[in-house]
Amino acid sequence: MSSGVGEKEKEKEQVLVEYCKAPNGLEKVVLKELRGSSAEVYLYGAQVSSWKNEHREELLFMSSKATYKSPRPIRGGIPICFPQFGNLGSLEQHGFARNRFWSIDQDPPPHPPDSGNKAFIDLILRTSEEDLKIWPHRYEFRLRVTLGPGGDLMLNSRIRNTNTDGKSFTFTFAYHTYLAVTDISEVRVEGLETLDYLDNLKNRERFTEQGDAITFESEVDKVYLGTPTKIAILDHERKRTFVLRKDGLPDAVVWNPWDKKAKVIPDFGDDEYKHMLCVQAACVETPITLKPGEEWRGRQELSAVPSSYCSGKLDPNKGWCGCPQAFINETVEYKGGHEA
Ligand code: BG6
Repeated sequence: MSSGVGEKEKEKEQVLVEYCKAPNGLEKVVLKELRGSSAEVYLYGAQVSSWKNEHREELLFMSSKATYKSPRPIRGGIPICFPQFGNLGSLEQHGFARNRFWSIDQDPPPHPPDSGNKAFIDLILRTSEEDLKIWPHRYEFRLRVTLGPGGDLMLNSRIRNTNTDGKSFTFTFAYHTYLAVTDISEVRVEGLETLDYLDNLKNRERFTEQGDAITFESEVDKVYLGTPTKIAILDHERKRTFVLRKDGLPDAVVWNPWDKKAKVIPDFGDDEYKHMLCVQAACVETPITLKPGEEWRGRQELSAVPSSYCSGKLDPNKGWCGCPQAFINETVEYKGGHEA
């Protein structure tokens, strides 16, 4: 008979964090959770490339045409957009963090001891002399990727201004999350209704979203402003709901290139738009400014839950038994941002 202590010992012996080299030659870290879920993170871009539930089903989209070669970012998973989201600035689109080689953070700052999470990795990106030429600021960007005991995927970012010349810097940011969906035309997003958004397809003009949950029938590229901390993405075909919780990131970007744009993106398959949706916790409208010594924190947490299907069609009035609406209304205490 195994005692509680014995079980704990056994648990400790399990390898929850593994370092390896992928067949594409890139170094990666595999996080495992005892019930079978997993996540993979490349050091290139600190990019989460895979997130699987306990049934080993992939939850993130990765293009079959993704290239794993610097300087192109990897098309899929969760690229990090920093220090610039989009192309409104002097830098390359979405900044450079997504195509730099990050390091394992050997000296991470303390995180809450009671979080109970064992499967995590701390990565760090620091200013390089090369990057100072294109973005003349010194910073430390620390990212912790955690796979929770229930299979949730958490990304915690801390960005510190380490300038020694007394200068502040300003940045925008996004967790460019590619969710895997079965059929985009059967997906709906709840939590963004009635909000204002900037439409990237219309010169970033500002509009107000209608009252209904968001569905998809053509290209979409919108930055929703001042969004709630919780957004639900319902994959009707799969009867799965993704719940995205965020903190420190007021905006949410929703992107799907649809058929025409898909054809001109070189590292994206012509029909792949049907099976992905980007919903990104972001800070775009009001950039963040840090004085020397100041630190910013931004968190995104993803969970995937079964959504029981009730009505037979996408009808916002009928609702979903699987509780997405409850997720939207429920308030969650955020502990991640106030660590010592
Ligand atoms: C989205 C932007 O976040 O990323 C889109 O809103 C952009 O405008 C898309 O096309 C993909 O960007 P990239 O640089 O990864 O091809």
